[in-house]
Amino acid sequence: MYWRIIFFFVFLGCSSDLSDDAIPFVSFQDIVINLNLPEYNTLRTTGHQYINNGGVKGIILHRVNTNLYYAFERNCSYQPNNACSTVEIHSSSLYMTDPCCGSNFAFDGSVTGGVAWRPLRKYETSLNGSELTITDVVL
Ligand code: FES
Repeated sequence: MYWRIIFFFVFLGCSSDLSDDAIPFVSFQDIVINLNLPEYNTLRTTGHQYINNGGVKGIILHRVNTNLYYAFERNCSYQPNNACSTVEIHSSSLYMTDPCCGSNFAFDGSVTGGVAWRPLRKYETSLNGSELTITDVVL
């Protein structure tokens, strides 16, 4: 009887975790951008920019410093299969947010508020001079 009760609670815990699907994976070709081009000026001013041709729902590129860039998947880590599950840069430029359910994320991908409990997916980036490459390798 005792074991049945334990099993019941363990089972409930697992099912609640499993109800939140993992972010789907969509493979994409390496994205190579020349940071000196005017269309990437926003990276120098606000420090972030949308890249639309990669990831599941696009990518948020964040400039950590002149030598380091983070590429975040825009598909929210919480209930990623919801049609509205898309992360954007908050109008304050201070953090990322998913207006769908109101989760917020710092520019290291960690959750800072709302219902999300997993960090945003981060893709590999590498810098060669002014040429930045984003790959579909998940970090
Ligand atoms: S889908 Fe992202 S917080 Fe709700």
